[in-house]
Amino acid sequence: MPSTTPPPRIHDSLVLEPRDVQFDWSSLPLHWIPDEPFATHTINVLHLLLPEGERWFVRVFSEALPMITDEQLREEVLGFIGQEAIHAEAHQEVLDHLLRQGLDPRPYIRQIGWLFHRVLGDKPGLSGRRRRENIIERVAFVAAIEHFTAFLGNWALNSPGLDRAQADPTMLDLLRWHGAEEVEHRSVAYDLLVHLDPGYLRRMRGMLVSGPLLVHLWVRGVRFLLAADPELRGRIRPTWRDAQIQARRGLLPDPRAMARSAARYFRPGYHPTQEGSSSQALGYLATSPAARAAATR
Ligand SMILES: [Fe+2]
Ligand SMILES: [Fe+2]
Repeated sequence: MPSTTPPPRIHDSLVLEPRDVQFDWSSLPLHWIPDEPFATHTINVLHLLLPEGERWFVRVFSEALPMITDEQLREEVLGFIGQEAIHAEAHQEVLDHLLRQGLDPRPYIRQIGWLFHRVLGDKPGLSGRRRRENIIERVAFVAAIEHFTAFLGNWALNSPGLDRAQADPTMLDLLRWHGAEEVEHRSVAYDLLVHLDPGYLRRMRGMLVSGPLLVHLWVRGVRFLLAADPELRGRIRPTWRDAQIQARRGLLPDPRAMARSAARYFRPGYHPTQEGSSSQALGYLATSPAARAAATR
């Protein structure tokens, strides 16, 4: 049951600024990590999941807004909504580019759309306490997913292997701009969850549902992209061993490090500020070509 006195939040001065970035994908190669289609498509799963996923974040948090009684948290949630809406559109443009290159992502996107609209969407028949419960449950899923987006953002900001492999600089800027904003706003979903329900069980349930679901969607996404790639035509079959080899080369996050990070979410004293560095994130945003261009528009 929600407590009448939520625990104090750890930070108190988060001002989230949506940066209206733009990217030119016209010269992006299909394999934007040269000669590394497996690593390219493993990261490309982000483009499959995020447009629908982040639009869903925006809908869930918009539904939760009237339930917020803390003015600063409300401002943070509004900033979060603004940032996630721009993230979704930035990744959508990559999907549109993939389609122009002959890789049709739409069959997978239809499934993701069904998941976020039908399974995890608003339930119009609910009202009162049941509607509130439903919204908080979905906020718990978002908070757990945001633990992973912060992990991935932190990895993107610390991934010199991608530079060594001469990955496309515009894609690197997209990944690092988005990653930096994920690190910057990593506390918001968690703080919203604690504000609405500080209970440990809800937080655990959020991770126990979201973690396996995310892994499942990612594996399906990699298989889908490798099969739909017009140059590969299914010649590469992904394995966990490949993922670990590419992680050792610094081209992918280490799945075991990601699992250990997920386990930290279960600690009673967990808070998202314990993962990643806000100053590193803000440092990248001060130099990101896309974020700098957005600041002068
Ligand atoms: Fe995002
Ligand atoms: Fe986020």
